[in-house]
Amino acid sequence: MIKLQEQAIEVLNNNWTGSFSIPCANLYPFQWKWDSGFIAIGFAHFDMPKAEKEISTLLDAQWENGFIPHIVFHTENDSYFPGASFHRSDLHPLASKKYKSTGMVQPPVTGFVLEEMYKVSNNKEASLKYIASVIDKVYFNHEYFYKNRDPQNEGLVYIYHNWESGTDNSPIWDDIFETMDSPDYTFERRDTTHVDAAQRPSKREYDHYLHIIEIAKEHNYSDEKIAELSPFLVQDPLFNTMLIKSNESLIALYKLIGGNNDKIEQLEKWQEKSKKSFNNKLYDEELGAYIHYDLRNEKPLRHVSSSSFSPLFAGIPSNERAQKMVTVMMDKFGNENQYLCASFDPTSNRFNPKKYWRGPVWINLNWILYNGLKAYGFKDIAARVKQDTIDMIEKNGFYEYFDSRKEMHTDGKAGYGGNHFSWSAALLIDMLKN
Ligand code: GLC
Repeated sequence: MIKLQEQAIEVLNNNWTGSFSIPCANLYPFQWKWDSGFIAIGFAHFDMPKAEKEISTLLDAQWENGFIPHIVFHTENDSYFPGASFHRSDLHPLASKKYKSTGMVQPPVTGFVLEEMYKVSNNKEASLKYIASVIDKVYFNHEYFYKNRDPQNEGLVYIYHNWESGTDNSPIWDDIFETMDSPDYTFERRDTTHVDAAQRPSKREYDHYLHIIEIAKEHNYSDEKIAELSPFLVQDPLFNTMLIKSNESLIALYKLIGGNNDKIEQLEKWQEKSKKSFNNKLYDEELGAYIHYDLRNEKPLRHVSSSSFSPLFAGIPSNERAQKMVTVMMDKFGNENQYLCASFDPTSNRFNPKKYWRGPVWINLNWILYNGLKAYGFKDIAARVKQDTIDMIEKNGFYEYFDSRKEMHTDGKAGYGGNHFSWSAALLIDMLKN
């Protein structure tokens, strides 16, 4: 275990650039929003200055309207498509003048990451001082979401692109792409020069990804226009869970800092409304799980994925509902031939255990589930998620994602995508200490 931890530290140190971390070499050469949060949790255990710098660098790229982008293009690098010149964040009048970025977001993890850093810190006073110096930026980001991403004033925010979800090519998006008539673009991908195409999204999926961005760009990334016109407009349970969890952390941290009563009050209001709508709208009784909602076409997307169980992490379901969800999780995802937790329902015909978010296990979702299960008292299942995570990494290395079928893990080749992947290392460090 000590050895595994040392290897994880080495992965993180190698992906550190001096002011932020890359998710992994070649495939992802910039700073990604939710990656930076998970990475900071890992660094917090052995190098707090790096953890703090990671977050400060991300927050430095915040726009004047509170928006924090999904990718910050700190450097010129043509090994990634689509890069800065495709995304054109400069089209938005309030975009950062200092950094080029995408014009979309990623799950808002930063709030709860700050609280995790505080918990881990052995110099609470210094940590709280650091947190006090950045927390308003995170609050401003939440305000951006509630003001601009909730057109029906429900307390649930939408995402307008599958890349905003973090679960890029989940089979859930198939339902939406069927409603779209995307052009057949000509472009040169870079991801498939680094990784086997069988493990990555298809060309047709990329057409849809680009098409949604083209529509947003036509309107200079105006939130209002996107809400009105984007063919992709989804209320995602994972994304909203991250926001709710982060709200909770901001409340706790503001209380420690003292003052800020207006912000605490506002956060509490958001929190109450968000949780209520989440439970009313995103829970599917029949499936026994939380699901996505297609706001553009006004219909639930009735698929079970690892995101379906993430609300455990933010204390959203009642105990009774949590029990039901865990039963569903173990029935569908948890038999003895499977590692926990596949990213998509292994009993569905859309399941593909090799292809990115269409089935493989991802360590960040395992970390979220591990903590959520523990919080609700499902100690044995939480312990299994932890042990499965350790096993997969020990057998294969610090990969980006892993085959969920145990039978594939006999020759050390069941890790897919990028290797030496930062958040796999960072969150393993945290789980080993926990
Ligand atoms: C992929 C993942 C996304 C992650 C990014 C960088 O796009 O789907 O969640 O943030 O890689 O690691």
